[in-house]
Amino acid sequence: MSEAIIQFVEVVKSFGSQRVLDRVNFAIPVGKTTVIAGGSGQGKSVTLKLILGLLQADSGQILVEGKDVTCMGRKELNLVRTEFGVLFQGAALLDSLTVFDNVSLPLVERTALSRGEIKERVMATLAQLGLEGSENKFPAQLSGGMKKRVGLARALQLQPKIMLFDEPTTGLDPEKAMEIYQLFHRTQQQFGYTSIIVSHDIPKIFNLADQVVILNRGKVNTFASPEDITRSEDPDIKDFVKKTMGDVYLSREMEYAP
Ligand SMILES: Nc1ncnc2c1ncn2[C@@H]1O[C@H](COP(=O)(O)OP(=O)(O)O)[C@@H](O)[C@H]1O
Ligand SMILES: [Mg+2]
Repeated sequence: MSEAIIQFVEVVKSFGSQRVLDRVNFAIPVGKTTVIAGGSGQGKSVTLKLILGLLQADSGQILVEGKDVTCMGRKELNLVRTEFGVLFQGAALLDSLTVFDNVSLPLVERTALSRGEIKERVMATLAQLGLEGSENKFPAQLSGGMKKRVGLARALQLQPKIMLFDEPTTGLDPEKAMEIYQLFHRTQQQFGYTSIIVSHDIPKIFNLADQVVILNRGKVNTFASPEDITRSEDPDIKDFVKKTMGDVYLSREMEYAP
């Protein structure tokens, strides 16, 4: 496995008497796709918030590019956050702005680029993500899948080193969800960022992941591939696989059917 861009070392996070992460260790390899999976309430979103310094760990270290975010001040944290692009469930587009204005917002607010440069960059990303011709539409005029694409286009504008996706296909039917995951994969290959995708299940598409991290009862298990998970002897993991990896077996059977 290549060099780690993020590393959790003995991280503990509790809310009251509930210990969500219990001395957790794992590494996120640079330039690859890591899927963080696990049932509802197992601490997936909490893990992303810890990485961004939006929540404070009780103990342990969270290293981002070798620097521990758990002991950073606001100023230093803000600097680290500029390395990240985030796409959370709702895509969080501004309804009163067009697609172009939504996507260009980070460039307008955070850079000194000229209008021409901004237009060039935004239109290029829209084309890459299959959104050409939609720049003057408003979010309400877009399908669920297109909204996710616009959210991704916006998150990419500041050229993040690391993209965080929190259950990014929520609200899409399975076919559309697959399309979006495929697009994420293509985009990750093109842009070369490190990708962390949180999901409450393990869709077939995660054959494209370089690593799967499963959160379960405060503990973490790391697998090199979704196939590896099927070989786990852990009863909780077995149960999770049975519940969420039906797709994999189903598709294999279909492929092998005469
Ligand atoms: N700010 C908070 N205050 C109290 N409890 C929280 C807070 N954030 C998350 N939790 C609890 O921590 C657990 C993990 O939450 P979360 O990471 O959001 O789960 P998920 O894996 O579904 O994303 C849940 O039981 C949740 O209720
Ligand atoms: Mg969550």
